[in-house]
Amino acid sequence: MAVGIFDSGLGGLTVLSAAQKRLPEVDFLYFGDSAHAPYGVRDAEDVFNLTRSAVQALWDRGCDLVILACNTASAAALRRMQEGGLPPGKRVLGVFVPLIEALTERQWGDNSPPREVAIKHVALFATPATVASRAFQRELAFRAIGVDVEAQACGGVVDAIEEGDMILAEALVRSHVDALKRKMPEPEAAILGCTHYPLMESVFQEALGPRVRVFSQAEIVAASLEDYLDRHPDMLGRGRGGFLTTGDPAKVSDRATQFLRRRITFEAA
Ligand code: DGL
Repeated sequence: MAVGIFDSGLGGLTVLSAAQKRLPEVDFLYFGDSAHAPYGVRDAEDVFNLTRSAVQALWDRGCDLVILACNTASAAALRRMQEGGLPPGKRVLGVFVPLIEALTERQWGDNSPPREVAIKHVALFATPATVASRAFQRELAFRAIGVDVEAQACGGVVDAIEEGDMILAEALVRSHVDALKRKMPEPEAAILGCTHYPLMESVFQEALGPRVRVFSQAEIVAASLEDYLDRHPDMLGRGRGGFLTTGDPAKVSDRATQFLRRRITFEAA
């Protein structure tokens, strides 16, 4: 009975951790493709192929539902996988839509036409590939009218986090926030559109200032997953939970343990 959670590396652990708090009775099988991280500098075809094979690996291990806890994968692969047809009984969901539903104050799964929303100026921080895809703006346009989005591609942040170099990650976040503020001096809200960034949430908040509301995906995706599983209890799947990596299990386990502040043991995928 396991739900699959996929990320290019360690960022999806932020989503996993929030989901485990909300759904303690559910087992999760986490897959981090650390051997190929970061995805954010790869082209869309490459991200699609890597994502598809990781999702297949989770399906093969008994997960019926896989969450792409990676914006870059969600941007490049989700729609294409869904439109290409999924195996019977298997589902894959991404992380953009819950975030946009929260930003636009919708109920989970509310697909009514776009309407005016309270927040008008939004800063989006994401990987270069996610920014280039414009997937966030496309999904937002289905739900909201008249929202001005300024996107900042945050090169280097995922690499620094994967390497455990939090001092470099912090310096990069501050310089990306400065760059964003030169383009949009007074955003009302900021979207941390990469699942690695909640690990730097306090740095984003401090650099943006207290008046900016920071939307971080982990809690939002976990809440929408709880709602989804209430409506689709049959998607809990088979198989057991755990942690899989394409990288070096010892190194990845150490970093994950540091981030989640509890012992995490990855096995080779
Ligand atoms: N956590 C991934 C995301 O949400 C990081 C992508 C990457 O590997 O660059 O976009």
